[in-house]
Amino acid sequence: MSAPLLELNDVSKIYSIGDETLYALCHVSMKIFEGEFVAIVGPSGSGKSTFLHVASLLDKPTEGIIKIKGKEVTEYSEAETARLRNREIGFVFQQFNLLPKTSALENVLLPLIYTGTSEHERIRRSKEKLEEVGLGDRLKNTPAQLSGGQQQRVAIARALVTEPAIIFADEPTGNLDSKSGQEIVKMIIRLNNSGKTVVLVTHDNSLAQIAKRVVKVADGKIVSDELTKWGKADSKIYKQWPAWQTKQSKHTDGDCDYAVLREDD
Ligand SMILES: Nc1ncnc2c1ncn2[C@@H]1O[C@H](COP(=O)(O)OP(=O)(O)OP(=O)(O)O)[C@@H](O)[C@H]1O
Ligand SMILES: [Mg+2]
Repeated sequence: MSAPLLELNDVSKIYSIGDETLYALCHVSMKIFEGEFVAIVGPSGSGKSTFLHVASLLDKPTEGIIKIKGKEVTEYSEAETARLRNREIGFVFQQFNLLPKTSALENVLLPLIYTGTSEHERIRRSKEKLEEVGLGDRLKNTPAQLSGGQQQRVAIARALVTEPAIIFADEPTGNLDSKSGQEIVKMIIRLNNSGKTVVLVTHDNSLAQIAKRVVKVADGKIVSDELTKWGKADSKIYKQWPAWQTKQSKHTDGDCDYAVLREDD
């Protein structure tokens, strides 16, 4: 088997407020391979967004090691991390995070500015991505001139324009009505079906079932890691499952030091 696309090794994120410390992530180890579609689920405050921020290199872990394609990246400088993130990782957030006074096309163009792509090529690729998400006729609209679902589709086009290895989505349907939410869900499934690795963070257990693998978190710990029916049906990716399933050997509520995760090789 080739190296995992993403690997977290004994990663913790500790927040200190006054003299209180909180393990928002508690010794989390996990591997994600190319082509997987993983949902991270758990109640509010369980550490899902913290996981996403740390795993996607937006934020540094307090302890532990992160590897991308087998290479340790935890000690990278800010600039190296930013470059890597821009190249390998796409983001879709609940709040869309689009620039307000900027057209759909320019919003999608933005990540390409830092990649050395020529202007002509930047425009061509951004238009192509907006066409792929069904917005080829809305290139000049600003976010305020688009519906919520359309804004999220612009955000998806922006996440894809650099052809990243992995897409992270944090509650991507959280601000949408159910019909627009369904469209975004279908788009994410299509993305994964075309081979893109997807990590979806949600508090919604039933939404998580669209993924191939569901990782449940509680109090900053992984409490289960199981394939859904879609994962079980994907014998190509999961031929060697459960080789990299995250297992919990010990779990004590409230005390991070006793929550030790191990993996069977
Ligand atoms: N910058 C911070 N400083 C201090 N504590 C934080 C910080 N960010 C998050 N936390 C705490 O870490 C824990 C995990 O937060 P996180 O945002 O990861 O939860 P979540 O699972 O994404 O929740 P939600 O479903 O509500 O988005 C929470 O108890 C939160 O209060
Ligand atoms: Mg969150």
